[in-house]
Amino acid sequence: MAHASGLMRSVFLGSGAMTPERIVTNAELETMVDTSDAWIQERTGIAQRAVAGPLETTASLGTEAARRALADATLKPEDIDLIVCATSTPDRTFPATATLIHAELGIPVAIAFDVQAVCSGFVYALSVADALVQTGQAKTALVIGAETFSRILDWSDRTTAVLFGDGAGAMILGSVPAEEAGGRGVLAHALRADGRHADLLYVDGGASQGGRIGKLKMQGQAVFRHAVGNISEAIAACCAKAGVEVADIDWFVPHQANRRILEGVARRMGLDDHKVITTVTQHGNTSAASVPLAFEVARQDGRIKKGDLVLLEAMGGGFTWGASLIRL
Ligand code: UT7
Repeated sequence: MAHASGLMRSVFLGSGAMTPERIVTNAELETMVDTSDAWIQERTGIAQRAVAGPLETTASLGTEAARRALADATLKPEDIDLIVCATSTPDRTFPATATLIHAELGIPVAIAFDVQAVCSGFVYALSVADALVQTGQAKTALVIGAETFSRILDWSDRTTAVLFGDGAGAMILGSVPAEEAGGRGVLAHALRADGRHADLLYVDGGASQGGRIGKLKMQGQAVFRHAVGNISEAIAACCAKAGVEVADIDWFVPHQANRRILEGVARRMGLDDHKVITTVTQHGNTSAASVPLAFEVARQDGRIKKGDLVLLEAMGGGFTWGASLIRL
């Protein structure tokens, strides 16, 4: 039930992350395709990525990230009444990966579904969960970004194989009456999509087209050209909605696709380099998992703290892109 006097506010309660044990270095990729550690590092900033083992899946990685988030928030599975999982690499075409995670965690009957917005998935999922919490349809939401992009890569294509990795991150949002939130919580989102660019980044298969899973295809340079401008506009719109200045942001947690994009956005927005969380070096691009994974790294190492104003942003296939602001 929504609070009698109005909307509820979603506040941050905890987070967790999980990456597979198996690390694939650039040196290992040099043995598989015509590439070099120097090219990958110079063009992308990536040094290594984690790759799921045969028994690991999107749901198993998402479940472990969620367990860690529950522990961080000192909550039990039965406290969760909403699971939104952002993924483009579900364990099965259906049911939703969110329901597999629901069962694995032993959560009582709840709301559970997936959101598919590729690399922007986590920002989209956060916005959807926030809306359900704000309107009183859920009290405690588990928002997960989980991917196994290694399963949709063409490992013989050097233009894509070197870029992606696997992992999962989770965030838990709780509900408090807006007037009692004291400035904390999810403050605003700016979500965007432009389907005219669908052919620049896609998977050439699907249930309804060809009936096979397919492999990832990307025209990297064309995607790159849109990235900085799109992301910067969404950040500015999100800050305007929340009534905050870009300079007020304590931490900038961007989608980790390419270090040159992160730096380009930071430069254009006038953000200090030391406020930008960069994990692309160790994770590569983990699509919907990248923002919550980067967020968790910076929380664990003590940079992101209670009270900080954090900006999350992403852009990916569709195109989809967007930004969210949250004060911890
Ligand atoms: O997460 C979703 C959003 N995705 C993105 O944001 C990705 C955006 N795009 C990018 O990050 C970059 O465009 C890439 C990292 C994908 C590529 O970097 P680039 O500087 O745009 O390189 P390019 O595609 O223009 O390729 C330059 C050269 C080409 O050779 P020629 O034609 O100049 O002889 C490529 O064939 O680099 C070659 N190349 C490689 N060389 C060594 C492409 N991939 C590789 C490779 N190793 N892995």
